[in-house]
Amino acid sequence: QTLQKHLAQLPLTHPERRAAVVPLMQSLQAERGHLDDRGVEEVAQVTGLSTTEVEELATFYSLIYRHPAGRHVLRVCDSLCCSLQGADRLLQAAEQYSGVSLGKISPDGAFSILPSICLGLCDQAPAALLDGEAVGPLNEAALQVLLRRLQE
Ligand code: FES
Repeated sequence: QTLQKHLAQLPLTHPERRAAVVPLMQSLQAERGHLDDRGVEEVAQVTGLSTTEVEELATFYSLIYRHPAGRHVLRVCDSLCCSLQGADRLLQAAEQYSGVSLGKISPDGAFSILPSICLGLCDQAPAALLDGEAVGPLNEAALQVLLRRLQE
């Protein structure tokens, strides 16, 4: 239904259909929780791109999830700037503290913790996004508070 709404607006908001790939992927993700294989095919069909091209774009945009994720998603950057500021240690701490492996969904479906490529928040290293909102610079204490809130 959300995809249909976006499609209906396409001629107005995206006269060039290929430019609508990301909004369409976001729309399907909002509806289904992640961009599933059917979604990739649908986006390819309406934009005229191949499924491989849509797949590549989905992989490039770190806020598009190709696999099911929890209701809340904490993305912790592990690229260079953040790595130098202790991101790897933070990711390990996140797993230990939450008991949820990276990339997996918590048993109650509440959250997932995902490592991420650069989030464009290098000035906030170690940077993280919670549901698309910047929450860095993150330290272990702040991370524990965040995870506790997600587990409530
Ligand atoms: Fe982490 Fe850029 S390297 S946000």
